[in-house]
Amino acid sequence: MTLQELLGVELPIIQAPMAGVHLSALAIAVSNAGGLGSLPCAMLSLDAMRSELAAIKAQCGTRYNVNFFCHVPPAASAVSEQRWRAALAPYYKEFGIDATTIPAGPGRAPFTSETADLLSEFKPAVVSFHFGLPSAELVSRVKEWGAKVLSSATTVEEALWLEAHGVDAIIAQGNEAGGHRGMFLSTDLTTQVGTFALVPQVVRAVKLPVIAAGGIADAKGVASAMGLGAVGVQVGTAYLLCPETATSAVHRAALKSDSARHTALTNVFTGRPARGIVNRIIREVGPMSPAVPAFPLATSAIAPLRAKAEGSGSGDFSPLWSGQNASGCKEIPAAQLTRGLAADL
Ligand SMILES: Cc1cc2nc3c(=O)[nH]c(=O)nc-3n(C[C@H](O)[C@H](O)[C@H](O)COP(=O)(O)O)c2cc1C
Repeated sequence: MTLQELLGVELPIIQAPMAGVHLSALAIAVSNAGGLGSLPCAMLSLDAMRSELAAIKAQCGTRYNVNFFCHVPPAASAVSEQRWRAALAPYYKEFGIDATTIPAGPGRAPFTSETADLLSEFKPAVVSFHFGLPSAELVSRVKEWGAKVLSSATTVEEALWLEAHGVDAIIAQGNEAGGHRGMFLSTDLTTQVGTFALVPQVVRAVKLPVIAAGGIADAKGVASAMGLGAVGVQVGTAYLLCPETATSAVHRAALKSDSARHTALTNVFTGRPARGIVNRIIREVGPMSPAVPAFPLATSAIAPLRAKAEGSGSGDFSPLWSGQNASGCKEIPAAQLTRGLAADL
């Protein structure tokens, strides 16, 4: 089955959901251009989710994807929060920040039954997950209205697990990809392989359609991924400069500079490995710090440093999420970018 048939789209191009850098405007532009636009919900309250879903529904009907993280929220631990703040103490001092005033908080929320209730009012055609899947009960609630369920696999083992747990298609996320690794069966970064190696192995291992993600930035990349057996692609980084995103000024500047060629997997921003452009905090505290609390609890302690630095035009403490191939980032409307990605098919 083609991706177009499975998801009801014209082009086999999924705009990757990117929490924190865009809302419904990007999804609407991509869905209306014939691709599949995605709304990332990991950083949205239920109220914000409702108004973004209403905006998409008004312009795209049900042809869009809604994306969630499905981690198990960790219990807050004063000891690990203290250890993390101690690692950041020199920076609080440098910026004159009183660390006792920083509220602790999660920063990112998983999929819950309340979210399923809200989604059932909108009945999106596609729901995608990162970090595995929520409970079987929640997955079957999403399927009740006929939604297709997607999730990311970073290894063959994860792809087989997702197939056994009822997804409709697998997003094979290569190591090049920007943002969080979707890894959920292992925390060992040596298990992570590149898109060119991962996609054909996953295609051979599972019967489900496979969507390639990671490092795909132009029409030739899309055609190559499909040549490896993928039925379509999920592209994130290339959309980051589109006018429909809310990518910050420091993030845009980094993506446009030569420093975008140097990315790393780092846990310093959230507690889980994610790929971003190497900056001061990654160099000095990371890239992988043993002092971080469990995902997503690392976020709040960094927030005031990020705010102070961005206030003076510096991205030294910002998560400058990017894949290894930022060469496709263009300041052009997302519809034009989407059609360009499909140009060689
Ligand atoms: C800025 C940014 C934020 C991301 N946030 C999410 C997210 O909220 N949910 C998700 O499933 N994937 C997220 N991802 C990962 C993408 O789904 C996808 O795997 C990745 O963008 C593909 O690689 P590429 O960036 O090289 O195109 C994010 C990626 C980026 C670049």
